[in-house]
Amino acid sequence: MNTPICEFVRRYSEENALRLHMPGHKGTPLLGTELYDLTEIEGADSLYEANGIIRESEENATRLFGSASTLYSTEGSSHCIRAMLYLAKADAVRQGKAFHILAARNVHKTFLSAAALLDFQPEWIAPSKETSYLSCSIDMEHLEQRLQRGDVTAVYLTSPDYLGNRADLASVAALCHRYGVLLLVDNAHGAYLKFLTPSEHPLDLGADLCCDSAHKTLPALTGAAYLHLGATAPAWMAEEAKCALSLFGSTSPSYLILQSLDAVNAYLANGFSETLASYVQTAESFAKRICARGFPLIGNEPLKITLAPKAFGYTGNEFAARLSEQGIVCEFSDPDFTVLMLSPSLPANAWERLEAALDAIPRRTPIHATPPSLSTLPACALPIRDTLFCKRETVSLEQANERILASLHVACPPAVPLAVAGERLDEAILACFAYYGKTSCDVLCDNAP
Ligand SMILES: Cc1ncc(COP(=O)(O)O)c(C=O)c1O
Repeated sequence: MNTPICEFVRRYSEENALRLHMPGHKGTPLLGTELYDLTEIEGADSLYEANGIIRESEENATRLFGSASTLYSTEGSSHCIRAMLYLAKADAVRQGKAFHILAARNVHKTFLSAAALLDFQPEWIAPSKETSYLSCSIDMEHLEQRLQRGDVTAVYLTSPDYLGNRADLASVAALCHRYGVLLLVDNAHGAYLKFLTPSEHPLDLGADLCCDSAHKTLPALTGAAYLHLGATAPAWMAEEAKCALSLFGSTSPSYLILQSLDAVNAYLANGFSETLASYVQTAESFAKRICARGFPLIGNEPLKITLAPKAFGYTGNEFAARLSEQGIVCEFSDPDFTVLMLSPSLPANAWERLEAALDAIPRRTPIHATPPSLSTLPACALPIRDTLFCKRETVSLEQANERILASLHVACPPAVPLAVAGERLDEAILACFAYYGKTSCDVLCDNAP
């Protein structure tokens, strides 16, 4: 597969042109990558009006993902999520309907900033059986009952979630389509799912719109992402998707990231499915082996190992610290879980290093403490958007009871909300804040708004 953006930039860098254009480094190395860092000069195309090399590269990506259209972002899934939600709201407006989105609660915080920007208030699907705010399984019966009421225009899921759980997207998509409802999927963690055999990518399971962070699970530079339109997305969206991205994007997209997306196309086309198939097999046998040694694992995503180490005698944070002492840096940990992200790009000795590090951690007395229940969400007192324009103050958790949360969300990293702006904090949610190590939060001043 060709790489038109990389080719253009390589040729330009060889021409030794006098760069009387941005960026200010003029190609002179400071970090070392400046020579290849361009702006939208003649021939370099323009991300949001692409009709040259960027368009050609995006068409390559469209073929690879088998989508109706795949567009690039150099500003992450965060950017694509805003664009997806804009398109979903615009679709409702075009049909003369009120935009009503039903979202599984474990959204990334960008969903909340989009709610503020686009002025919508989501209806939440609360986690039911989960023990972590990072996951939210979908009860199909409840979902169907909810869709039967006829007012929902879009359903929004995060799959895979941060802990490596995947939703049954095929069933959810079938249900959404039966009721004429759009399915939007935050697939930030699952770009590689397209290259499993068979594909388990959200688009192939029926999602109408989805976004992938190319940088999370494919070998792209940080910030590289795709906005995909599926075959079932309304046809008008193909025309509007660029416009949707440009609404929220910088006018100076990074050409380093664009080249990275372009180069990833060739990487994916060049036997990645085969590489992935054999890597996933190795990962599965590794997971079985460490499970047999007493390390409890959760999740069903092939490139994540999510340890639940309390049964082994450690909190997730303690376990991550033990690994870190041995030079192994995890993606994420919290009181309950330690998340490791795998990739065929890791060095061949990664398995050995990880196994040796796990073996060096002694088993201890199991920890039985569980997180407070999350199944009852705090009540919404004020729309997200309105809350952001109110005066706020920082108070201790003891002072926060019955107050209205003023910050966009309260989360421990990653950016998944325990509570969202405009919710009235109660004892149950404050117990969750405390469990995850929060000691204070921002609330509306008494006289707000
Ligand atoms: C589930 C989820 N969605 C979206 C995002 C945002 O992705 P990006 O960092 O590519 O903007 C993240 C980032 O961690 C995420 O975990």
